[in-house]
This record gives sequence, structure tokens and C-alpha cells, in this order.
Amino acid sequence: MIPLQISSSFLESLFQNVSDAILAINRDGMIIAANRSFEAMSGYTVQELVGNINLCDVCIGMATCSEEMTCVECFAKRQKLPSFQMFVRTKSGEELPVAASSTRLPTEGDEALVLILRDITEQQRVERERHQRQLTNYVIQAQEEERKRISRDLHDGIGQALYSIMVGLRVVNQLQLESQVKAHLDEVQQLTSRTLEEVKNLSVELRPSALDDLGLVPAIRSYLKRFDETFGIQSELTVNGKRRRYPSVVETALYRILQEAMTNAAKYADTDQLFITLTDADDNIELRIVDKGVGFDPEHLRIKGTGLGLFGMRERASLLGGSVRIDSVEGVGTRIEVSIPLDEKGGPKYVHSFVDRR
Ligand SMILES: Nc1ncnc2c1ncn2[C@@H]1O[C@H](COP(=O)(O)OP(=O)(O)OP(=O)(O)O)[C@@H](O)[C@H]1O
Ligand SMILES: [Mg+2]
Repeated sequence: MIPLQISSSFLESLFQNVSDAILAINRDGMIIAANRSFEAMSGYTVQELVGNINLCDVCIGMATCSEEMTCVECFAKRQKLPSFQMFVRTKSGEELPVAASSTRLPTEGDEALVLILRDITEQQRVERERHQRQLTNYVIQAQEEERKRISRDLHDGIGQALYSIMVGLRVVNQLQLESQVKAHLDEVQQLTSRTLEEVKNLSVELRPSALDDLGLVPAIRSYLKRFDETFGIQSELTVNGKRRRYPSVVETALYRILQEAMTNAAKYADTDQLFITLTDADDNIELRIVDKGVGFDPEHLRIKGTGLGLFGMRERASLLGGSVRIDSVEGVGTRIEVSIPLDEKGGPKYVHSFVDRR
């Protein structure tokens, strides 16, 4: 093996061709050298930079643990210089976040501060997106837990109490009563019975126990029945492929997406028939909701409610590595297709580390 000779031409080539931006400044902060990558980053030519531009003209501060952007205790004045983040203002006025490290090097009769900079705009965008996803996931999970708790409280607490009242009223009603009292009692009995029914519906609407106890298909079936009773819209369900349980995150996401798509159809599609298809194709599960209603233009939404439904569908699917496809044509109808890739155990195949796989 021939050891590499670090010649000055090799160093010059490294300086010019390395992808990180490098610049050197003198004690006054004047730029005394810059490589091609810094030219590309800043938009200035080397001729414009060297001897003409001061570091402070292209630097708009550094980020510390306590401050977003500061010039206090500027890194250029410190003796020991750790890695840090700073912001570069380009010739066109753009502000770029960059990861920086620096070294002091002796020069002829002076000292230069050499800065090595890397644009982290893309890295920060990805990080922000990940953070946003994480928040969405926490909100969805917290909402689901809360719905579960309220649903159980309604069913087991208020529901049971109303049932006991009904039993009590029935016992009283069997006694010898004046006809006027009996008429009142009948009314109260009917009111209690209706309230009990409403509490039960509310409890199921919030979170059907069938989803946890029996799984996705039975939960969808009973939802379709209730949907028909509420809106008078009949739905045809087709189930293809394997019938199996999926982790709760998958079943919940698909169920909530179905609920939103069907509610949208009931509110806006002006149709009396819906077609639902659930297909387990081993390596993915697909849910399709089709209506032959009025349709809409997905590119130019005319929001009639709060406008969060379609966004929420996409978020839920994307947290599980899945996707939602919306095909809608005005006058023809709407087709919503959700697809979630599955691993061999039926769990979500691609999932963010912060999503609970269960
Ligand atoms: N099946 C459908 N048929 C016709 N128009 C639809 C259908 N689904 C959605 N839309 C249109 O798309 C818009 C956006 O739907 P989205 O579910 O995102 O919001 P929303 O229903 O208005 O409010 P939210 O769901 O937050 O209560 C609706 O306002 C409606 O105009
Ligand atoms: Mg909606």
C-alpha cells in the first residue's frame, strides 16, 4: 500500500471540492478565503467575498441552548469554539440554518478562524415534520383513550343507573295506583327507556366495544346497521381475503376513516347507497368506500364543515405507513381508498417509532 502524500495541491483540491462550505476570517472578521461550496451556499463569488465582506454581513447569529438566534458572545470572539449552529444570510436575502464547527489556525504573523458549515435546512424540515407527526399521534391516541373512558363510563355508570331506575319504576307500576299517577309513571318509564337508549348509542358512537372485543369486521357491520337507522342510507359490505384480527392501532384507524368517509357521504353526497370493500391481501389491508353521489373536486375543496375530515384520514393512514387515495368526480361520485402495508403478523409494516404497534 502506498501511503497518501498530503501535498499542498491535494489540500487545495480538498478545500475546493469538499461538500461542506469552508471560509476563513481574520481577527477583524474579514473573509480571507472561501471555497466553492461557500460560494454555492452564500450566492457570492470568491472575488466578492474575499477582502470585501465581513463575517457579520453573512452571519445573522448563532443558536445557543437558551436563545434562538444571538450575537451575544459571538463564537468568533471565543477562545474555545465548540460545534454550534448559526444562520447564514445569502446574497438573495435567504436565511439558512447551518451546522458549524471552527478551528483557529496560525497564518503569517496572524491567526485565522476557519469555519466549516453545512446547510441543515432539509434536516430541520424533516425534523419538524417528524415532530408534527409525533404530536398528531399523541393527540389521536389521547382522543381515542378519552373516548374509550367516556364510553365505558356512560355504559357502566349512567347506563347501569338508568337501568336500575327503569327496574324500580316497573316494580312501582305493578302496584295498585290511581289512574292519574299511573299515566305519569308510564310517561316517566318511557322517557327513562329512551334516555337509556340514547346513552347506549352515545357510548357506542364514542367507541364501540365490538371494535375491541370482536374486531374490525363485526364493528363495521354494526356501524353500517346504525348508519342505516340514522340516515336511511343502505351500505353493501364486501370482505375479501383473510379474516383476522389486526393490532388495535390498525383496526381503530380503519374504523375511524370509514366513519369519516361515510359521514361525509351522508352529509354531502346526496345518495342512498354506499359500497364498502375490505380486502386483506396478506401484505396490505385495503378499505374502499364508494358512493354514487354528487362528487366534488378534491383539488379545489369547498369546505362545508370544519374541513378536518379528509386531512385526519390521511394523517391516520400515514402514521401507519399507509396512504389514502381520493377519487371524486362531480356528478359521478366519490371513491376513498385506504391502504396500509402489513407485516407477516398482520401488524403495520412501516410505522414511526413513536406509534404504539399494539
Ligand atoms: N362523499 C362526498 N361527497 C361530496 N362531497 C364531499 C364528500 N366528502 C367530502 N366532500 C367535500 O369535501 C369537503 C371536505 O371534507 P372534510 O371531511 O375534510 O371536511 P368537512 O366534512 O367539511 O368537515 P369535518 O369533517 O371536519 O367535519 C366537504 O366540506 C365537502 O364539500
Ligand atoms: Mg368530514
